[in-house]
Amino acid sequence: MGVTGGIAAYKAAALLRLLQKVGANVRVILTEGAEAFISPLTFEALSQEKVFTQADFLKPQGGFIPHTELARFAEAVVVAPATASFLASLTSGDAQSILVATIMATKAPVLLCPAMNVNMWEHPAVKENIAKLRSWSYEVLAPCGGELACGDVGPGRLPEPELIADFLARLLAPADYQGKKVLITAGPTREPIDAVRFISNRSSGKMGLALAKAFWLRGAEVMLVHGPLSVKIPSYLSQRPVETAQEMYQVVNELFPGVDILVMAAAVADYTPVKTFSGKLKKKEKELVFTLKKTPDILAEVSAKKRPGQVVVGFAAEEGEKLPEEARRKLKAKHLDLIVANDITRCETGFETETNEVFLFFANGKELKLPLAPKEKIAWQILDALKEQLGEILSAKA
Ligand code: CTP
Repeated sequence: MGVTGGIAAYKAAALLRLLQKVGANVRVILTEGAEAFISPLTFEALSQEKVFTQADFLKPQGGFIPHTELARFAEAVVVAPATASFLASLTSGDAQSILVATIMATKAPVLLCPAMNVNMWEHPAVKENIAKLRSWSYEVLAPCGGELACGDVGPGRLPEPELIADFLARLLAPADYQGKKVLITAGPTREPIDAVRFISNRSSGKMGLALAKAFWLRGAEVMLVHGPLSVKIPSYLSQRPVETAQEMYQVVNELFPGVDILVMAAAVADYTPVKTFSGKLKKKEKELVFTLKKTPDILAEVSAKKRPGQVVVGFAAEEGEKLPEEARRKLKAKHLDLIVANDITRCETGFETETNEVFLFFANGKELKLPLAPKEKIAWQILDALKEQLGEILSAKA
């Protein structure tokens, strides 16, 4: 991890913490500029490792040549924040600083996270350097908009550590879904009763979101169609928010012809009120009766229009012993390539949980259990299984 001399340098400490939390073994390089903002001791205390500075570059100790050793050590490099002058030195190949020298000496993928004043970011010199660095396969994560430390408003802020960590993870992930377009639905739908009330369910959208992220990490182009979610959707996922089953039906129908894979992880309401009352329904003396009508079965309808090379994945929320039988029935009835079933009677799996245990039923007869794990891990394993069982269909079109 390289830190250069910008006010966002203090955020690099949070990034270091996050990378360590997800299991990364991090070595930090501070440029002279960074040392003016934050002390090497901060990073040394957090990483419990020696932090490398310009002094180590100029006077290597005990035969340890920092830029070549660190270049060999790293499986990935992130520079956060990356200043305009650092970008200029890297573009011109000026290896006088320890960080530029290390980056030039490494074969590892590099993620650059520029952060600076908005006018500097928009200056032609920076634009040209960024274009050149991108053409050399450096990954550049553009800064976020908002109010900057200098008081100006516009793009220039260092993105949040979580976003940087996701982009870094993508550099390390297999790009086995590169070139694939994936449509994922997630979360519940809301069927309005009146202006303020609705029928919905307890889906959090976490499983769908974990799948969307896994596909993105592995190189796919992802579109997330989602009902109302309480979880934050990362900015790198393209999204189409919807409310009702009917709206989801329309959007999925519109997008399905252009995708390679559809994953229906949404908990779509099966019924919707026949009539939506205008305004707020007043309390009645006795019981209130209203009629529900069936919503379209999005998955069944779309799957019937599947063309060769397209893969359709459904989900099934089932109860206890009936799970395999019901999953196999839905797999066939809805013409799916794969159905992912989970048991909603268990408290650690399914709705509103961080973890899941799922059973995969493929159209080719293969059946697989993915034991209890965080939803991110389950998503990753679903992608592995999908590639293993349906790789031929997926590569047929490519
Ligand atoms: N699904 C859908 N449209 C609906 C209802 C469900 O596309 N109107 C999709 C879900 O997104 C899921 C799959 O169908 O991928 C199975 O959903 P599930 O609720 O388990 O099955 P249903 O067919 O609705 O049957 P039941 O609720 O009776 O078990």
